[in-house]
Amino acid sequence: MKVYIRDVKEADCVCDALILPLIEEEGIGLYSDVDSATNGLLKKIITSKEFQAKHNQVSLVHALNEIKPERVLLIGLGKKKEISREKVRQAGGKAAVYLRDLGMREITLSTRTISSLNLSPSDFVEGSLLSIYRFDRYRKEEERKDIKGFAILSKDNSELNASLKWTETVASATHFVRDLINTPSNDMTPTALSDAARSISGGKVSVKVLEKRDVEGLGMGAYLSVAKGSMEPPKFVIIEYDGGKGAPIALIGKSITFDSGGISLKPSEGMEKMKYDMAGGAVVIGAIKAASVGRLPVNLVGILPAAENLPGGTASKPGDIVKTITGKAVEIITTDAEGRLALVDAIGYALKYHKPKALIDIATLTGACSVALGNEAIAMMGNDETLMNKIKAAGEETHERVWQMPLYDEYKEYIKSDVADLKNTGGKSGSLVTAAYFLKEFAEETPWVHLDIAGTAWAEKDKPYTPKGASGIGVRLLLNFMKQLK
Ligand code: BES
Ligand code: MN
Ligand code: ZN
Repeated sequence: MKVYIRDVKEADCVCDALILPLIEEEGIGLYSDVDSATNGLLKKIITSKEFQAKHNQVSLVHALNEIKPERVLLIGLGKKKEISREKVRQAGGKAAVYLRDLGMREITLSTRTISSLNLSPSDFVEGSLLSIYRFDRYRKEEERKDIKGFAILSKDNSELNASLKWTETVASATHFVRDLINTPSNDMTPTALSDAARSISGGKVSVKVLEKRDVEGLGMGAYLSVAKGSMEPPKFVIIEYDGGKGAPIALIGKSITFDSGGISLKPSEGMEKMKYDMAGGAVVIGAIKAASVGRLPVNLVGILPAAENLPGGTASKPGDIVKTITGKAVEIITTDAEGRLALVDAIGYALKYHKPKALIDIATLTGACSVALGNEAIAMMGNDETLMNKIKAAGEETHERVWQMPLYDEYKEYIKSDVADLKNTGGKSGSLVTAAYFLKEFAEETPWVHLDIAGTAWAEKDKPYTPKGASGIGVRLLLNFMKQLK
């Protein structure tokens, strides 16, 4: 779907459907001219209470020949004092999916209402772009309905132009990330994930992939132990984006392309979902891709310790002790707590070879994350309040919301091992936070934030701009955070 600015009057805009956002209890609002041109048809729908402009409510009318658009879609934004960027985004999602499913190809947004609220049409467009995502690569070719063009009615305006461009960059990175996550593990292997990372190289982005023997040489025994039970070779991916000055921010993404649990095998029910255990890594690739397309003035290093966690004959076993790149030894209590094993070697590698000014890891790390927060928030923990506050603020703006959990010193006890420096699980109690505490032991003094997206990376049902399946959560959060860095 191509988004572009068009400087014409609503009534003169040739298209399949003209979208008019309306505010609850404000009647026809700013559109009395369009209403007169349709002989009062729009007002009738409103006075009859068929359409009350409740949030996300839609009503489609044919415009006959009085005005150029074939149809008018009324979309509700809800009560004036309750309208927010998120409500606008959702309305954009709702309108686009509705029109797409009806087979509309050229659609138009009137920006009068949104601008009068001092909000940006870009949020509406963001919702529209995110909502029309589809993952149908594995279906036999059928006739697909797609919106071709989305005209935004406005005077040509460089600010709006730039913001629409950025919105498109972010949305297309999100689509890319959703594709990676939705792809099943027989196709999305560690090798395929490393190829996806390579695909973004060029310009200021360079990608390096370490093979198993390189990783062995570097002493990343914890990470390697995860890959041991699989025939798929591990791939340790390093993506550098050189867009700014100074030490980079390290973005570390959990990249387990399938998590069977290993010898500590997971129950079979729902196991097919464990293809999304590389969501963190996909988000890192997508965020760096968008950062480079949008030329964000930051330095980034993305690290993806990719592996498949299977229970083969050479797999790690409970009780095994492995040595990390830092020299710390870890006792594996359960091979299903594999994410943290891979992540701590990635953190250790980042500190040793890239000296980042901050570390952010993003991971589908614990089942306890969704027990605590459902599908509504990312669990955040870290060692630096300033960094966490910035991420929190970015989360409020993008509605990829984060909720902070504590990392009390007392949790250290939970992961003490009788035989090694640490053990890889502290048991059920507090498992969301003890997983993070395990990572904290490797972040040392570097400002670090952990984002657990286990509850949010997968949408269990369609939402206004997130179709069921991989959500791509984290892309907009990280980009918004990076955009606001000074
Ligand atoms: N990948 C899982 C966490 C997960 C569960 C993500 C459900 C998304 C949905 C992770 O590797 C895992 O298995 N965690 C275990 C750790 C436990 C064995 C200490 C968990 O949280 O159950
Ligand atoms: Mn696991
Ligand atoms: Zn996992």
